[in-house]
Amino acid sequence: MENWSAATIRDFRQTLLAWYDAEGRDLPWRHGRNPYHTWISEVMLQQTQVNTVIPYYEKFLATFPTVVDLAAADEPTLLKVWQGLGYYSRARNLQRAAQQLMTDYHGKWPRTAAELEDLVGIGPYTASAIASIAFDQVVPAVDGNAFRVFARLLMIDADIAKPKTRQLFTQIIQPIVDPKRPGAFNQAIMDLGSSYMTAKNPDPEHSPVKAFDASYRAGRVLDFPVKTKKPRPKPMAYYGLVIHSPAGYLLAQRGANEMLTGYWSFPLILKETLRNDESTAPATVAEDITEIERRWVAEFQLPLTLTPVGGRIVSHTYTHQRWQVTLLMADLPTALPLDFFPGKWVSAAEIADLPLPKVQEKMMQQFASQRDSRAFEKN
Ligand code: ADE
Repeated sequence: MENWSAATIRDFRQTLLAWYDAEGRDLPWRHGRNPYHTWISEVMLQQTQVNTVIPYYEKFLATFPTVVDLAAADEPTLLKVWQGLGYYSRARNLQRAAQQLMTDYHGKWPRTAAELEDLVGIGPYTASAIASIAFDQVVPAVDGNAFRVFARLLMIDADIAKPKTRQLFTQIIQPIVDPKRPGAFNQAIMDLGSSYMTAKNPDPEHSPVKAFDASYRAGRVLDFPVKTKKPRPKPMAYYGLVIHSPAGYLLAQRGANEMLTGYWSFPLILKETLRNDESTAPATVAEDITEIERRWVAEFQLPLTLTPVGGRIVSHTYTHQRWQVTLLMADLPTALPLDFFPGKWVSAAEIADLPLPKVQEKMMQQFASQRDSRAFEKN
């Protein structure tokens, strides 16, 4: 790993910030300095690209101009402006943190990264981004861009997949951050990371900080950052039950001890739970249907006649799991009582008001494309 002298560090700051001032991106959240604006943009940018975020950011601030508005928001409105960004827990956490700010901090923002981390949903990166950009605290904001940029500049070979590595990078970058303009410094690193120093198509030859790039001198740009591969997401086979009655569709709310807690979806049944013996022969769909029908009478007093919806299997990958859902359907002439079932009948028009996980959106799309494509617009 390279070690920069104090003179090199000064030189680097000056080169970086001169480039940022001339060529940095003009983004809506970079106008003025407002911790609320920085916070919203940083949370949106966590899993979503800049170009996608811009219209969501504008709409969010038009709907909730201040922390006070966000704290008082009603959930359907909140989820509606978030719809399409995914990861609904981020939207919920935003609101909870806004409420925390109002109640625990009397509406006054804490100004350091350490204090900001006490807010719901604000991790070390977001805390440092807000503290440096909105409050001039001299701390590095270590996200994927910073990992990549500094791993290359200094040839740091620590494995960025390991949780401890963030600390190491923070320590290495801390003395390099410009003490006069920490927010601009951090955002300049983000811009470098999305232009000359991208993951797959870097252009180190024309980079404004080429003279500081040890990996470029060594001809090893793409060897950094070092990142061990994540294990493959575990395949999980489900049946998704599209059960319709005059009262609407049957939706189940996910429980506290499973993932996607609180979200609503068609009932999902993990295939491997259908047979408790160790039989080696794979069950056919027809056998599985018979077993599901038997259990729904026994457990929920709900007699069903299921048939396969057909068409493609619905597939969605969550962080550690790849779900593959085979849709089955039943059309009931009357709405059965749900005394023993943890769910409710929801009219097609009301489904969209509930918090729906991505896999539910995909199941509805697949179901609609297989049957009457207006099935979800009529009641
Ligand atoms: N990615 C994460 N934060 C960002 C920011 N403030 N500007 C541009 N890209 C970003």
